[in-house]
Amino acid sequence: MASVSRLSRPNGAFPHGRGAYIDLLGIAGARSMEAQVKKSELVLRAKPAPVVDPLTEAESLTALAAQEAGCTRCALYKNATQVVPGEGPPKARVLLIGEQPGDMEDLSGRPFVGPSGKLLDIALERAGVPRDKCFVTNAVKHFKFEPRGKRRLHRKPDAGEIDACRWWLDRERALLRPGLIVALGATAIRGALGRSEAVSRLRGEILDLDDGAQFLATVHPSSLLRLKDESDKRQAWRGFLADLRKIASWIEKDARAS
Ligand code: URA
Repeated sequence: MASVSRLSRPNGAFPHGRGAYIDLLGIAGARSMEAQVKKSELVLRAKPAPVVDPLTEAESLTALAAQEAGCTRCALYKNATQVVPGEGPPKARVLLIGEQPGDMEDLSGRPFVGPSGKLLDIALERAGVPRDKCFVTNAVKHFKFEPRGKRRLHRKPDAGEIDACRWWLDRERALLRPGLIVALGATAIRGALGRSEAVSRLRGEILDLDDGAQFLATVHPSSLLRLKDESDKRQAWRGFLADLRKIASWIEKDARAS
């Protein structure tokens, strides 16, 4: 297991000035969000063991996570702390796909526990999307980074890494059988569709997939955290919430139909 000292972050600082961003948006609990991602909360998860033969069809998401722990399908496993499998109720009707684990996710073994995840949680709540109806995962399941002094800087996964990891995403989809698949950003779109499409081309439309599920693309929450201009931030936040409200409407319709 990784040592606790690996969790330390110089001065407890967080990237992207997230607190200021959240304050600007007037989101209640801005500072408590800062507190929520304190390193002391990161409980390192032991790597799932034993690692199971990945060629045997996993019959549950837990069994699948154990297989993922032994993944060597691309080189990213070599430097990551551990694989970060998807997480959520096995009967979730909505599958949310992110890009890849970040620093905190890599250390904790859980998806969306860092700054982007906290922003996503707030946005989902604001948009009226019940979190317990969502399974969250990533297109790429190992953290890709570049060491810079004591820090690990996020690097975007390339097409080969995304395609190699579709092996796992497809199995998650097969086990979960979600009615709606939501891609957060371009990497997630490639993971979900198997081809690259610009977020701007697909964004905000509920589309039908060949397997009977539906598909919605939106931006990745980290893109909001990177914005500097205040009016850009407000506009991006409104646009993101508008997309997420489509998930809330879809869930309501789905519940009525079943
Ligand atoms: N960003 C992602 O895309 N996924 C995570 O799990 C965390 C940050």
